Parts: sequence; structure tokens; C-alpha cells
Amino acid sequence: MKIIELDKVDSTNEYCKQNDNGEDLCVFARKQTAGKGTKGRSFISLDGGLYVSVMRHYENFSAENAFKIMINGCVAVCRTLEKFGISPIIRWANDVLVGDKKICGTLIENTFSNGKITRSIVGIGINVNNEISAEIGKIAVSMKELTGKKVALEEVKNAFIQSFEESYTIEDYKKYITWFGQQVTLKTYTEERVVTAIDVTENGRLLVDWCGNMLEISAAEVSLRL
Ligand code: BTN
Repeated sequence: MKIIELDKVDSTNEYCKQNDNGEDLCVFARKQTAGKGTKGRSFISLDGGLYVSVMRHYENFSAENAFKIMINGCVAVCRTLEKFGISPIIRWANDVLVGDKKICGTLIENTFSNGKITRSIVGIGINVNNEISAEIGKIAVSMKELTGKKVALEEVKNAFIQSFEESYTIEDYKKYITWFGQQVTLKTYTEERVVTAIDVTENGRLLVDWCGNMLEISAAEVSLRL
């Protein structure tokens, strides 16, 4: 896979789209001026973080297996962090936390044709040495804060590339979920529900028990609070 390193870009996901000539790409940027988060949010991307997008093209990848792409991205990040002595957990569907603070977010943008995924762009932002403001510090943490020292960004990049090349299963993903059996909050724009988390299915749905009813939740519908 071709690796591109940029000093500054609007968004590494956008860069992939604009420079797609059919080749698979892995694009790192030192900072992003218009980083994108999930659900239309922006993603602050200051110097010192790891901002990367991996673009892959597929001949025959059923859209039903879309969650495999998420599994791979999240587990690759967890394995990367572990190489630096950090113990992460996954907050379904796409966040990686340490304790109750977010260390990494993932934005996956897929292109579909006839029930198949023809292209995926997996965008990952990891807080490495970037400053985290006091306000954001209530909900986010960096590798630097956790290890007590500046972390070599180059080493994080290399560890990430290596981990991302592996392929992972739903079981690997679930190993990072410590909150099954616990009460969690599902949030939509209009309501919040406290439920018991039961499982994550192979196609990426969260199974929960709500007042004795088993519900299957899609990540597009809700966000999860642990
Ligand atoms: C989220 O937590 O909401 C997802 C954040 C994803 C951020 C990464 S940084 C690299 C890539 N480029 C972007 O514009 N977004 C993703």
C-alpha cells in the first residue's frame, strides 16, 4: 500500500477521495484544518496527534460485512495502544477509550454499488501528544498524558501500520468490551434510555435488554454512554 505523509490537510479522508486513482492509500497528516467526526461533527486535529486514513478498494465485498471494516480499524488501534503499555476499551461502535476518556475516534466512509462495498476509507484520529484543553480533558485523554511522557509519533505510526495489516474477528473486537452485563445509556436526538448491554452481533448491532425486551440497535440510530 502506498503511504503518503502530509504536513497539513483539510481532512485525510477527503484527501483520499480527491486523490483516488484506484490505488490503495494510507495517508497521514501532522494536522487537519477541517477534520471530520461522525454524525456530521468536526474533529479538532491539532499538531501532535495521529491522523490517518486508509483507503482500500474491493472487487467483491458484500455490504452485509461492512462491520468487518470497523472491527479492523478499532482492533488495530487497540493493538497499537497496547504496544505502548496502554489498556484500551472499545465503546461501540467506533470509539476507543481508556477508562472513561476517549483516546481515538474512527470515521469510516464506504462507497457502495449493487450491494457491495467498492471502496472504504477508514479515518482514525488518535490523541498522541496533542494538547487537550481543560474542557475537552473531561472526556478525552492522550497517550502522552497516560504514559507521562512525549511518545514518538513515528513509532505510533509504524505500530499502527503493522496492526492494521492484520485481520481481526468479532471475538477480537469483543475482547475490548468490558461493559457487557452493565447498564449503559442509549442516546438519540430526542430521548435517552438506560438499558443493559448484552452483546454485539457480527454485523455490528448492539444487543440490549430494555425492561425485559431484547432490542437490536444500529449505530446509526444512537450514541452510547458507558
Ligand atoms: C469521531 O470520533 O467522531 C471520529 C473522528 C475521526 C477522525 C479521523 S482523523 C483522520 C480522519 N480524517 C478525518 O477528517 N476524520 C478522520
